[in-house]
Amino acid sequence: MKDIVLKNVKKSYQGNTVIENFDMMLEAGKITCLLGVSGVGKSTVLNIIGGLTTAEGSVAGIPESISYVFQETNLAPNLTVSGNLDFVLRAKIKSKEERGKMIAEVLEAVGLIEYADSYPCQLSIGMAQRISMARAFAYPSELILMDEPFRGLDIANKSKLIDYFLALWQKKGKTVLLVTHNIDEAVLLSDRIFMLSGKPAKITAQFNLSSDKTCRKLSDQDISEVFAKIYDTFAVGI
Ligand SMILES: Nc1ncnc2c1ncn2[C@@H]1O[C@H](COP(=O)(O)OP(=O)(O)OP(=O)(O)O)[C@@H](O)[C@H]1O
Ligand SMILES: [Mg+2]
Repeated sequence: MKDIVLKNVKKSYQGNTVIENFDMMLEAGKITCLLGVSGVGKSTVLNIIGGLTTAEGSVAGIPESISYVFQETNLAPNLTVSGNLDFVLRAKIKSKEERGKMIAEVLEAVGLIEYADSYPCQLSIGMAQRISMARAFAYPSELILMDEPFRGLDIANKSKLIDYFLALWQKKGKTVLLVTHNIDEAVLLSDRIFMLSGKPAKITAQFNLSSDKTCRKLSDQDISEVFAKIYDTFAVGI
């Protein structure tokens, strides 16, 4: 796995420059969060890294295979839960038996093995998001790009999904970019947080968190301090 390095990146839509002189590094095997207010350009950066949109400047270290987790789970309604996972794995893993093992492993990890034969319409939104997370980790990729993957979940379900996510990440060890405007998600999940602000937008602050992510609480001293610093920056407007 390689670090992913963006240098002097610029992106404009019809003359509207969203990011300019933009530099960022995603450390291999770590969880990096890009945090900023709505409309600042977070999804634009994620889409540039994923090759979903073009940009000027240099983007290096992008692996061949990337997994995505979006707020919309994009599960095929006509396929079962395991069918949905099998569908994305088929292109990469020829052996049906091996695919079956991987599917069982990740469904077990998100606590939904008994729903393997259910259809997406039979799942709650929170369950569908867990499946979408499982699919991203099952796919043999080095990088996961997550755009607001916890949006729309209540606190209990969000906290559960964060636990499942961290368990899978520890097992599978991938580089992760999390894009969100939620400070709690950022401080609970990330090794490094970049704050994106301005117009055109740039990284205006950076926070490194070194404590064990699997047992972090918002009340931990280091976590609550970073939370407060970020909150105060947002509150005065960025
Ligand atoms: N395809 C597009 N065509 C034109 N303008 C766009 C396009 N995509 C994004 N923009 C503009 O670029 C800016 C940044 O959008 P982006 O979606 O990256 O923001 P964001 O930080 O992800 O916001 P949110 O938190 O609401 O998802 C916005 O002003 C938006 O209107
Ligand atoms: Mg967005």
